[in-house]
Amino acid sequence: APLSKFNTFGIDAVADFMIEVSNNQEIKESMVWADQERLTPVILGGGSNVLFTQPSYPLVIVNRLMGIEKIKEDEEYVWVRSGAGEVWHQLVLYCITQGWGGVENLSLIPGTVGAAPMQNIGAYGIEIKEVFESLEAIHLTTFEVKKFSKADCQFGYRESVFKKDLKGKYFITSVVLKLTKVHQLNTSYGAIGDVLSGKGITNPTIKQVSDAVIEIRQSKLPNPAEIGNAGSFFKNPVVSNRQFKQLRAIYPEMPNYPQPDGQVKVPAGWLIEKCGWKGSRFGAIGVHENQALVLVNHGGGSGKDIKALAMKIRKSVQDKFEIDITPEVNML
Ligand code: EPU
Repeated sequence: APLSKFNTFGIDAVADFMIEVSNNQEIKESMVWADQERLTPVILGGGSNVLFTQPSYPLVIVNRLMGIEKIKEDEEYVWVRSGAGEVWHQLVLYCITQGWGGVENLSLIPGTVGAAPMQNIGAYGIEIKEVFESLEAIHLTTFEVKKFSKADCQFGYRESVFKKDLKGKYFITSVVLKLTKVHQLNTSYGAIGDVLSGKGITNPTIKQVSDAVIEIRQSKLPNPAEIGNAGSFFKNPVVSNRQFKQLRAIYPEMPNYPQPDGQVKVPAGWLIEKCGWKGSRFGAIGVHENQALVLVNHGGGSGKDIKALAMKIRKSVQDKFEIDITPEVNML
């Protein structure tokens, strides 16, 4: 099966076999079959954070576990369970229509619900961990079903236990979010406040915050339906306070986000732009013109070439700033 529609980078890789699973029994059957046939499966949600660097993969299993339901509520909160195969932004829109708050800043993030906790998706001052209650996952060899609490998930910046100790061990099947009925809006990050006040909105609804986030994302980030990409290719690096002071002496304009531990996060997009990559193009691939952190496939590019470009960019940032930027995208 062609994989170009199964990854937002639009890479034309091929799966020798593809199985779409919609319940635990099908996950188990496909894993048992993969084991019998000695095939190593790639498990895919929306394919929005992966880069296929090989021309073909023996087996791709696509998460299609669907369904959204309210499972509990009290005066202040609602608990919503979503199948891991649901599209994240559809879940966000559904919650907003129901009047449930907490995910409006996470509007328009590509990918599925199951992939969201895996990398603790975040944008505009919010990470999923702030609304996360629990998830259920099935072990890929014992098929034991396990519930993971927030603490179990070990969330960090674009990190969770599923990218570290438990990498490749579990298949996430559903996620429970704890959402608000009385909202605590977070409009302080970046341009949200400006967009709202530009529209004369002083007391925004969750829908208005969502619309502002959508507007900002659309102005900066390429639409994967038009230009292949996987959002930020690298994580924003964190440097020591000492290194930050040295850098600031040379680049007083460098944007920076002091961390609670005294270290300082600097935007990789800024570093990459300073290295001259922004808007560059090499045949079918390149660096987005509005956001240097986003690598793009204009059509027909190969994953191998994008990976090579990413490594060149990483090296140039290392050479110029002595900062290592690590990829956020999962290269397969
Ligand atoms: N900047 C530049 N040049 C660029 C890009 C950015 O100078 O080419 C500067 C901006 O001017 C700004 C700063 O860098 O001062 C930060 O830029 P921006 O607000 O666009 O956010 P980011 O740090 O580049 C992160 C997330 C995004 C998320 C935005 C908004 C990571 C790796 N990326 O990007 O997440 O949408 O903040 O919250 O943390 C993703 O993970 O795929 C993703 C898109």
